[in-house]
Amino acid sequence: MNTILLGAQWGDEGKGKVVDHLSETADLVVRFQGGNNAGHSLWVGGKKTVLHLIPSGILHPHTICIIGDGVVLDPSVFIREITELQAANVFKVASERIKLSERTHLILPLHSALDVAREKKASGTKGHIGTTGRGIGPAYETKAQRKGVRVADLFLSRPQLLDKIETLFSGFQFAFAPLELAEIKEKTLKDIDYWKKIFAPMVIDTTTYLHAATKAGKKILFEGAQGVMLDMDHGTYPYVTSSSTVGPSAGIGGGYPAAIKGARTLGIAKAYITRVGSGPVVTEMLGKHVPGEVELGESIRKVGQEFGATTGRPRRIGWQDLVALKYAVQVAGIDELAIMKGDVLCGMGDFRVCVQYKKPDGSPWDHFPPCVEDLEVAIPVYESVKGWTEATPENADYEAYLKKIEKFVGVPVCYVGFGPERHQMAVRK
Ligand code: IMP
Repeated sequence: MNTILLGAQWGDEGKGKVVDHLSETADLVVRFQGGNNAGHSLWVGGKKTVLHLIPSGILHPHTICIIGDGVVLDPSVFIREITELQAANVFKVASERIKLSERTHLILPLHSALDVAREKKASGTKGHIGTTGRGIGPAYETKAQRKGVRVADLFLSRPQLLDKIETLFSGFQFAFAPLELAEIKEKTLKDIDYWKKIFAPMVIDTTTYLHAATKAGKKILFEGAQGVMLDMDHGTYPYVTSSSTVGPSAGIGGGYPAAIKGARTLGIAKAYITRVGSGPVVTEMLGKHVPGEVELGESIRKVGQEFGATTGRPRRIGWQDLVALKYAVQVAGIDELAIMKGDVLCGMGDFRVCVQYKKPDGSPWDHFPPCVEDLEVAIPVYESVKGWTEATPENADYEAYLKKIEKFVGVPVCYVGFGPERHQMAVRK
């Protein structure tokens, strides 16, 4: 059976570790959305590997890792990651392990420059999204404008490619001074031949490739990035990323929708919640609702090393939000959950879970609020759970917490992660 793996919260749930675990029994690992805004930290034998673009299945030598059609790819980050993995002896010949869809859109220096400039301009205002500054939003924007440059375009004739680049740049004359725009264009053109040389042996048509792999009985693991609550349609809009992070997106962004028929969808969540960037978080430990929560949040950040793998920003910390998790399970089509990082809370005392949002007039929300204006004033209703000293299914207190999650959200917790190392994970069901 194929598996779709998703973040069930606001990203940074520990997806990389679960992908690494499931890759043991997968033949192909496919990224289907997002770009190098993701950051997966993997610990194997005391050694840390951080991946932003290349699927986390790469550390298992038998897997083929695919960058799908729905990803936006920054060529220089991609090449840097390949070089680092080669230096770490993960593989010698990249094209034997990594394939790249010819339809993947490129993040060019123009996109990253736009992302950074816009966020700088919006700093201190409601328009500040707190993006990772990696050009993700602008790349998806130019894709939707039908002005994007794709991997396959690099292999067109030079005049044809230049025409596409001109079209892309023509929409952004207003955004930069002429000299600056010329510099950005020069930077792009300078590297194209180098990118082509590296990409050429890796480029595939994902539909043909995955169709053949499926016929040959290969097992596919689809690796999601970010999380359901950052989904462009269903997340806490507008404080979201620019791609679709829910289950069905794996079919579209992976290039072979037939592969997700009958697949199981596994959502990854932490025992608590975090988010980076702007936007309301109902259960954030800000000292508004529970005495001592600010200090607890600081301890969790420290013990859980809750700093962005991509930007290094401190993550915002909150109590487990079962209202958001249940919504994520339903909207993303999640069949099973993995709960990660329960070990971080060991010995920190009793813990709270949010089981309802109330409106300022005291009436309950009967569904997940669509507007951030509503989330900003929503009042969390908490229940207390007994703290635990060990975050494994053998610990009765932790097990009671996992059962509470299952009962509330309506799907089983099948995996439990209790430490950063590869072996610190248990199959529960
Ligand atoms: P963008 O994806 O860089 O455009 O950022 C949009 C929002 O998504 C911001 O709040 C980011 O902090 C958040 N975001 C993007 N990627 C990740 C991720 O991998 N983990 C957590 N948050 C992310």
